[in-house]
Amino acid sequence: MLDLMQYAAERQQTHLAELIEFLRIPSISTQPKHKADVAAAAEWLAGAMRDAGLENVRVIETAGHPLLYGDWLHAGPEAPTVLIYGHYDVQPVDPLDLWESPPFEPAVRDDYLYARGASDDKGQVYVHIKAAEAYLQGNGRLPVNVKFIIEGEEESGGASLAAFIPENKELLAADIALVSDTSILSPDQPAIVYGLRGLCYMLLDVTGPSHDLHSGSFGGGIDNPLNIIGHIIAKLKDEEGRVLVPGFYDRVRPLTPDERQILSHLPRDEARWLQETGAPQVWGEPEFALVERLGARPTLDVNGIIGGYTGPGAKTVLPSTVHAKISMRLVPDQDPLEIAALFQKYVREIAPPTVRVETAVNSHAPASVTDYNIPAMIAAGTAYEQVFGKQPVYMREGGSIPVVGDFQTHLGLETALMGFGLPNDRIHSPNERFYIPNFYRGIQTGIRFLELYARQ
Ligand code: BES
Ligand code: ZN
Repeated sequence: MLDLMQYAAERQQTHLAELIEFLRIPSISTQPKHKADVAAAAEWLAGAMRDAGLENVRVIETAGHPLLYGDWLHAGPEAPTVLIYGHYDVQPVDPLDLWESPPFEPAVRDDYLYARGASDDKGQVYVHIKAAEAYLQGNGRLPVNVKFIIEGEEESGGASLAAFIPENKELLAADIALVSDTSILSPDQPAIVYGLRGLCYMLLDVTGPSHDLHSGSFGGGIDNPLNIIGHIIAKLKDEEGRVLVPGFYDRVRPLTPDERQILSHLPRDEARWLQETGAPQVWGEPEFALVERLGARPTLDVNGIIGGYTGPGAKTVLPSTVHAKISMRLVPDQDPLEIAALFQKYVREIAPPTVRVETAVNSHAPASVTDYNIPAMIAAGTAYEQVFGKQPVYMREGGSIPVVGDFQTHLGLETALMGFGLPNDRIHSPNERFYIPNFYRGIQTGIRFLELYARQ
């Protein structure tokens, strides 16, 4: 173990330089113009996996972006198998002018590495490739069998991996999944995430006249789709944050008193958290604590509205058609497609006959919860404690990692979410960053986890 830690410690600068190279590739999965970049990131990472000593490394073509597979299966028939998941795609970078250094020109300031994908998830997935490398190059073998499955579509819904899993159960069979794509509470307070929210992401189109109309000649006589989309949105949620779609809460699994207790004791500094958001005030369902609203309650948000004239100056126009992108974060046991149908029905009901409305599901993912007493969770807890010097807390995360639910459903596989990000890494936002000490500690924690899990 000491040798492995030393192997990793001696190579920190190299590991950082490699990660910087990886971060230079603009693998934005949701934007078609970056398709070749996404493919280049897959090839780059496949090379890194081979260099680490992983075997059977393959770039698997899909209807969307490529998947990556690699394994090392020589730990012996008694040894457990760990399926390590991560994603090499990243979110779009806009608004670009708010970046202090360009998103794909990684820059080190203080102890942070700034770049799109630094924390979510290139830096975190690279942690495990380096942990495997420490074993394979520093020791010749791993204490467990490992399989890596890495996707390039997580940030755009993960449809290709969702289709791949049920068709490749044998290939992906394992005892536990390990994922680093979440954050811990602070640099010295590790956290194990045992619950993730699901997602139902809807596109809403509202169309009135067949073409844009002069707002003077037609305003007052023809209804305006942009006004109407405002009315529709206003009816989706009340002012205190309750979603008004009928049936939305029907399947929400209530928190157990035990869980409410655990969550209420999380060492969270709410004032500091608020300050980091820059918002004037916290907000949300008054009958639930903030930590519950963020991880264990479902919610609905408009992510974008497209329509009308948004250029400089004024243009007098009634737009023909307008669009909104609306996401609903879900909790167990809400079914994303059932929620989509309820949304669609309600929007049809509230839309006036002066416009036509269309809704479509852009992406969906189930919520997940994992028992925090299973052996892998305990191994993860011990690994964190040995490296960070403090026991982790257990918490739910409000974001989604679609594959976790798919692993549960199709492979019967639980996931240990062992993240190394920080809450203020600004993921999905300008100036995304990764706290460099967490990168190195992540590699050490990954090394220790595999050893501890093997012993159980
Ligand atoms: N790494 C995030 C999930 C996450 C968010 C973990 C915040 C911890 C804190 C993941 O890459 C992500 O952003 N997922 C998307 C999934 C969606 C596009 C299906 C999300 O949650 O928006
Ligand atoms: Zn991520």
